[in-house]
Parts: sequence; C-alpha cells; structure tokens
Amino acid sequence: MTVTTPPAVLPGPNEPCWCGSGSKYKKCHRGADSVEARKRGPEPVRAGSVRPGIISPRRSVPANIPRPDYAESGKPRRSRFAESDVKSPEVLARMRRACRAAGQVLQEAASHLRPGITTDEIDAITHAAYIQRGGYPSTLNYHGYPKSLCTSVNEVICHGIPDSRALEDGDIVNLDITIFLEGVHGDCSATYFVGKVDPESERLVRVTRECLDLGIGAVKVGRPISDIGRAIEGHATKNGMSVVRAYCGHGIGETFHTSLQIPHYYEAEADTVIEPGMVFTIEPMINLGDWHHRSWDDGWTAVTADGKRSAQFEHTILVTEQGAEILTLP
Ligand code: MF3
Ligand code: CO
Ligand code: CO
Repeated sequence: MTVTTPPAVLPGPNEPCWCGSGSKYKKCHRGADSVEARKRGPEPVRAGSVRPGIISPRRSVPANIPRPDYAESGKPRRSRFAESDVKSPEVLARMRRACRAAGQVLQEAASHLRPGITTDEIDAITHAAYIQRGGYPSTLNYHGYPKSLCTSVNEVICHGIPDSRALEDGDIVNLDITIFLEGVHGDCSATYFVGKVDPESERLVRVTRECLDLGIGAVKVGRPISDIGRAIEGHATKNGMSVVRAYCGHGIGETFHTSLQIPHYYEAEADTVIEPGMVFTIEPMINLGDWHHRSWDDGWTAVTADGKRSAQFEHTILVTEQGAEILTLP
C-alpha cells in the first residue's frame, strides 16, 4: 500500500518512513515534511473553544430595498470624515425610525435563540426581518463582511461570522444588528444566555450591561467623550474584568462608522466635547481575562488571546440637554 499524506504523529528519524518505502524516515520524507510544515506556518492560536464552521452562500436583498453606497463594491465611497456627528432635525427623524427598527430586529433575532440552532439560521431569520421592515442589513458586504449580523460566541469579542456552528447549552452569544433604513444606520447589540450558563458568565454579562448603562449615564453636554470610557473602565476593573481596547463606539448616521471614536477605557486624548444633537454608539466589550485579542484568519472574528469569555452590549444614543436618549429601543 502507498500512503501519500503524512500522519498526524510523525516517525522518529531512524524509524521506517510513513510512506511505506522501507527507508529510514530521515532518509526519506523528513525533509519534505519540514518544508511543508514551514509553508503552513505555526498553528493559529486557539485558546478558547469556538472553532470556525462553514459559511453559507451570500443572501440576496430584493432590488427595491435602498442600499448603502458600499453594497455592491464593499468599499464605502463617502469619507468617514464627511458627516457631522451633530444631526439636523431631518436626519434625526430618520435615525429615530432606523434605530427603533434595529432594536426590533434584535428582539426578533434573540427570540429564536436556543441550544441547537446554528448562527447561520439566526442570520437567515435576521436577514428576512430587516427586509420585512424595508431595510438593508448594514453589515452585508461592508468592507466585504459576508453576513447580515455578527454573532459572537463565548471568547469571540466581536465580528463573529454566522456559520454552521450550533449553539450549545451554556454558551453566551452577542447578536449585533445594524439596519440601513431611510438612508441612515441604526446599530445595537446584546449578549444572551443559551440554556443554563455558569455563574462567572452570568456575572460577566451582568457587569457588561451595567458598563453600558454607566457609559450612557456619563454622557453630559460640555464634558469630554473620555468621561464615558472612564465610567466603563472603572466598573469593569472594580469587578476584576478588562475592557477591550481594539474596538470603540463610533459616530453613526448616513455613514455606518464616522471618524468619531468612543473608547470604552479612559483615554485622555479623547477630548471631543459632547454636544446636544450628537448621535453615536456606546458598545463596551468586557473580558473575564485580560484585554488582549487575536484575529482569526477569516479577517473578521476577534477572540480573546487567553480564550476567556467576552460580552458586549450596544446602543445608539442621542445627546440631549438632559443627558443621553437611547434610540435603539424596540
Ligand atoms: N455592528 C458593528 C459595530 O457595532 C460593526 C460590524 S461591521 C462588520 O460597529 F462588518 F463586522 F459587520
Ligand atoms: Co454594532
Ligand atoms: Co457599532
């Protein structure tokens, strides 16, 4: 019998080669195997438990649904710097409706969560829910992102791609929904329990929700944007958790992500002064372990470097004289 691919456990140098030639391994395939191994590079670091599944073909959106400028090419044409973060009453009226619709789609998506459902099935349900409201799934082909929401399970921090993986009893999963409706985006997310989860995960999810609430509570006209991250980071660290540094909240409107960034940790240089009429997201990602992240080779999925769990909640908010008004409530 001839064998053409090397086994998982390779022979010692003086043992017979795996190929069946009868020669010593070091005289036969050892050289070729090490060249192949070098070409493959190191195994990706996979400290956690979630593994990539199969991504289904792209879902289509009916031609009558208005699309953002990147829907065909994947590249936004409008500059992130072009749009003011303070909205006119006319833009704000459209944003109120888009944001409420986002909250409703999130609620609908979450109502289907149960052990055994795949994240791709959640994508199909969600995709239909956007369309039913006359909206386009903002993430679809955004910089090439292939799906209609992000599903981030356990140690996945954000931008998890819906795939063939079935949710398991004890998982936590963040569903991140963004709708493009009436020419503007509304963006929100929440983390849910699948079946019965362990007490540490419950604590993580509770503290992360509190972090979002405290961040929203820190929004005050005349204060710097850095107040938001200060409030969030204080609560996370007090609870022995860490704040993800690589991803921030953002200005939003006719543009999915404007140039305005809202760090969820204290950043002295985030000195933009909060003004009435501003609209932006607050979306803290909080980890049970440390804040370092890694990216999967799909180019999207961000996971914790230590494999411990991460949770996230997000709302789009409007700055008012009284503080912040949440726009993404259903
Ligand atoms: N909704 C995410 C956010 O909160 C962005 C997802 S962009 C994607 O900003 F391309 F990853 F889907
Ligand atoms: Co989002
Ligand atoms: Co967002």
